Amino acid sequence: MAADSTTGQVSAGEADVAGKQRTHVVTHLPGDGVGPEVTEVARACVDAVGGRHGFAIDWRSCALGGQHYLATGEVLPDAVLAELRHSDAILLGAVGTPDVPPGVLERGLLLRLRFELDLYVNLRPSKLRPGVGGAVGKHRLEDLDFVIVRENTEGLYAGAGGTVHRGTEFETATEESLNTWAGVQRCVRYAARLAARRSGRLTLVHKTNVLTHAGDLWHRIATEVAAAEGVQLSYAHVDAACLWMVDDPGRFDVIVTDNLFGDIISDLGAALTGGLGYAPSGNLNPDRTGPSVFEPVHGSAPDIAGKGLANPAGAVLSAGLMLSHLGEDAAAADLDAAVDAVLAAGAPASTGEWEKALLGQLGQLSQPGGT
Ligand code: IPM
Ligand code: MN
Repeated sequence: MAADSTTGQVSAGEADVAGKQRTHVVTHLPGDGVGPEVTEVARACVDAVGGRHGFAIDWRSCALGGQHYLATGEVLPDAVLAELRHSDAILLGAVGTPDVPPGVLERGLLLRLRFELDLYVNLRPSKLRPGVGGAVGKHRLEDLDFVIVRENTEGLYAGAGGTVHRGTEFETATEESLNTWAGVQRCVRYAARLAARRSGRLTLVHKTNVLTHAGDLWHRIATEVAAAEGVQLSYAHVDAACLWMVDDPGRFDVIVTDNLFGDIISDLGAALTGGLGYAPSGNLNPDRTGPSVFEPVHGSAPDIAGKGLANPAGAVLSAGLMLSHLGEDAAAADLDAAVDAVLAAGAPASTGEWEKALLGQLGQLSQPGGT
């Protein structure tokens, strides 16, 4: 059985039970803005590779997001969450509309999904692809190919804190960063196992010189886990890590870090590899007690929504992470190769041209003699 080098999931293999097609139940949650446009392309690409690799997706759809909230007042009803649990995976576009106040969808929908489905790893590969200059423009492809493993259920995102004395000059707002031994350990273990399947190098990114309590916990756990998993551990303060990501990204292969640091440095990783339009992510439940959620790192981009200008690469590559998670590594590799091939011929200017070029590449892959 093959294991994908990014997600490390076990492959379903090309030859399942003879003549019997595998089916994966995937809920498509297109959301708002460019979300529907980019995930339509991702869906078409997934269906195309499924045909070639002997599986089919049983697509379900789910209307949630800013438009849905404005129309119904619903953010994530319990019954919908219960329904989502029956999927094998969820493909999410983007949520958010300008009229919805900050926090409603972020906490009520995105973070609630991460918490309720125990999506404790946020996997964010940053890979420079052929024909994409990146923000710096001087890097060789082989030097800019790292994966950020972002802890996804704790830290400053956990929701601990509050406001007292609101409206007075003593108004006090606190946000507490929660770091549990079990929560840190399971995330670092995932990252270390991923590193073991790639280069054997793991970097902990934190701020142990200032955040001494959480930093100490993370550092002790990372040291123990790296030794147990047989990987080489290095450490970088988050500020220095930003500098090195720009100046010398070849020092990084697998980075493990806390929730907020991971959020921030993954946008930097995206900028270095072509921009948010190219950045995929997988919110993973590695224990598979529920479906994992795959989404491009970009948001709903209302300024370009409906104009056919959105870059679907991040959504297509997120769908690739999803296929790896579902055990369809060969199909995931085809999506990756198709994105590279399209880029090598010059990045398309519109969503429609992207779709045509990607489906063209995937069609060629399925010709006799194709790889
Ligand atoms: C991301 C986003 C989210 C996050 C927001 C929208 C809640 O920025 O997925 O990176 O902070 O995790
Ligand atoms: Mn973010």
